[in-house]
Amino acid sequence: FVPRPSSPYLKGKKLLVTAGPTQEKMDPVRYFTNRSSGKMGYAIAEAAAQQGADVTLISGPTALGAPRGVETIYVTSAQEMYQEVIERFEETDVVIKTAAVADYRPKTVSEQKIKKAEGEWTVTFVRNPDILQELGKRKTHQLLVGFAAETEHLQDFAMQKLEKKQLDMIVANNVAAPDAGFSVDTNRVTFIYKGGASKDLELMSKQKVAEALCEELDILLKSRAS
Ligand code: CTP
Ligand code: CA
Repeated sequence: FVPRPSSPYLKGKKLLVTAGPTQEKMDPVRYFTNRSSGKMGYAIAEAAAQQGADVTLISGPTALGAPRGVETIYVTSAQEMYQEVIERFEETDVVIKTAAVADYRPKTVSEQKIKKAEGEWTVTFVRNPDILQELGKRKTHQLLVGFAAETEHLQDFAMQKLEKKQLDMIVANNVAAPDAGFSVDTNRVTFIYKGGASKDLELMSKQKVAEALCEELDILLKSRAS
């Protein structure tokens, strides 16, 4: 039995949460994006604020209202998200990256609407910066938490990301399961820690996952302080 920490246990901690998809423009009427409702990230931002944390949410375009008690900054592209995150990284204690960042963007953006023509259309994409990997290189005192949405080899792929990006923890999410991931209000996740220990959580609401994650942060922050 692990006693629940007494609230507000994140008081005085500065959290940076990213959420939602990014949109990568091709022309004034078209963009390339990822599936993400933003629900998980917004729930985390709100749960952390309820525990007294000073939370900044960097959000891509979503249909959600701003979470209560959180400073919310809206961005569109991965490059904009990168700028906003890097700018605040130094003063941050914990970064939680739930955002579904587009890995690529169209190489050129047309100022005018691209007209259709006969036959196929080929678009060339270039790589976006990997925000979390950059934070892993730059981190001094910050705790870094990533999310991994996978459709297969959940544990292995998530563990590889944790190591490559020098994370303290990764939340692995099986998006192939019908009751987890995109659009739905429930999630089934596994917490994986630096060193390889892991914890499977049962199916629960995204709010409950957010609360469970906040409690983990409290434990990680305390073990770091001692
Ligand atoms: N991430 C990021 N910047 C990117 C891509 C991903 O910060 N350009 C972050 C995500 O916010 C997430 C973690 O990295 O916390 C894992 O994202 P994911 O897309 O699962 O992993 P990738 O490293 O992009 O690998 P792949 O898409 O090939 O599985
Ligand atoms: Ca990716």
